[in-house]
Amino acid sequence: DQQLVPISLTDLEHNAHVTMSINALDYYRSGANEMQTLRDNQDAFSRIRLRPRILRDVSKVDTTTTLLGHPVSSPICIAPTAMQRLANDAGEKATARAAAKAKTCMILSSWSTTTAEDTIAAGREIPVDTETPGLPLYWFQLYVYKDRVATEQLIRRVEKVGYKALVITVDTPFLGRRLADVRNVFKLPPHMTMANFENKDSKVTMATILDQEEAAMEAAEALLEKNGAGKKKETRVIRQESSLAAYVVSQIDPTLSWKDIAWVRSITKLPIVVKGVLTAEDAIMAANIGVEGILVSNHGGRQLDGVLATIDALPEVLEAVRGRNVEVYLDGGVRKGTDVFKALALGAKAVFLGRPILWGLAHDGEEGVSLALSLLKQELDLAMALAGCCKISDITRDYVQYGHAARL
Ligand code: FNR
Repeated sequence: DQQLVPISLTDLEHNAHVTMSINALDYYRSGANEMQTLRDNQDAFSRIRLRPRILRDVSKVDTTTTLLGHPVSSPICIAPTAMQRLANDAGEKATARAAAKAKTCMILSSWSTTTAEDTIAAGREIPVDTETPGLPLYWFQLYVYKDRVATEQLIRRVEKVGYKALVITVDTPFLGRRLADVRNVFKLPPHMTMANFENKDSKVTMATILDQEEAAMEAAEALLEKNGAGKKKETRVIRQESSLAAYVVSQIDPTLSWKDIAWVRSITKLPIVVKGVLTAEDAIMAANIGVEGILVSNHGGRQLDGVLATIDALPEVLEAVRGRNVEVYLDGGVRKGTDVFKALALGAKAVFLGRPILWGLAHDGEEGVSLALSLLKQELDLAMALAGCCKISDITRDYVQYGHAARL
């Protein structure tokens, strides 16, 4: 159980397992239920084979690309993960700075332990190096609250400080059942808060996340009832619940539907990305409603266990929106340069990293996140060169053999 000098994302994960508290580690690493989808997200990449081309001049490889028109240094970006201060006290600020240095896109979670304002301000403290291409880019991940006034207030705040897109998470009407969190009765340490909701005017407070609160107890009880655990239970049983799951029941709107996406569309000029699409049917709905982006995601295997690995869902989503003006991204299980390459070959515009960023944060704050991003970027550079691709647009379907079937 020694820490390693990390030379891959797997090493960073190993180190986090050695150093993190069990409450935080379990919250970060878990998937829902039997964690089949969690495993499959990574395994599915291994089932895809590469078809490299040889004898091309690959002395210079260029990974720059664009996201909704914004230039970034590479298609390796940062997925929204809640509560980053559980990994390192600098939390979201450290991630924002590392994103700025890497000139890539960071999506900030609604459930950050630093406010949206402070996070983007931290990123902007980093002087932008104009010698190399790309610019830092910040998007905001939105959970739609039952309280639409609070939801709209949050949208106005992130518009004002310069987030460039809203990423609406659509796979979480309820929180998936993560058994370790239930057992640990997961909660945030009392000195941390869901910072975006801490202003005293906000009706959506963090109070519900603390297990002493009546509201959380009621919500936990409601959830238990919903899960078939019977009516009134003893307090001991009621407490056997993740506070986050209870918070979602009390605050997040399970009635969310396409008309709410249209509502967000109608109240903001920011581009919208829907996060959590896994099927052609929903991709078509999203394109029809006029979103700018689709993030193929199963929430890192943390919601419905048994759904498709994201790399397996990607082809049908792309096929469904072919010719439409929608960018398609992917997250889930991306750990190696060849995973990024495979996702791009199948047609993703970019990939987003969830847990590896948290492992980087846990390892060494901002430096650790920079390390995670640069290790993967170097692996992508090498994969591109060895496959005979000098730029992102060179990476096409011809470079992968998908499953056992003939070439797509
Ligand atoms: C997440 N994810 C997530 N998604 C989201 O839309 N809002 C959120 O607040 C969070 N929070 C969160 C916390 C933790 C600890 C994890 C691991 C994940 C999901 C995340 O954005 C992304 O979809 C997955 O993490 C991608 O899978 P990998 O890269 O972790 O395999």
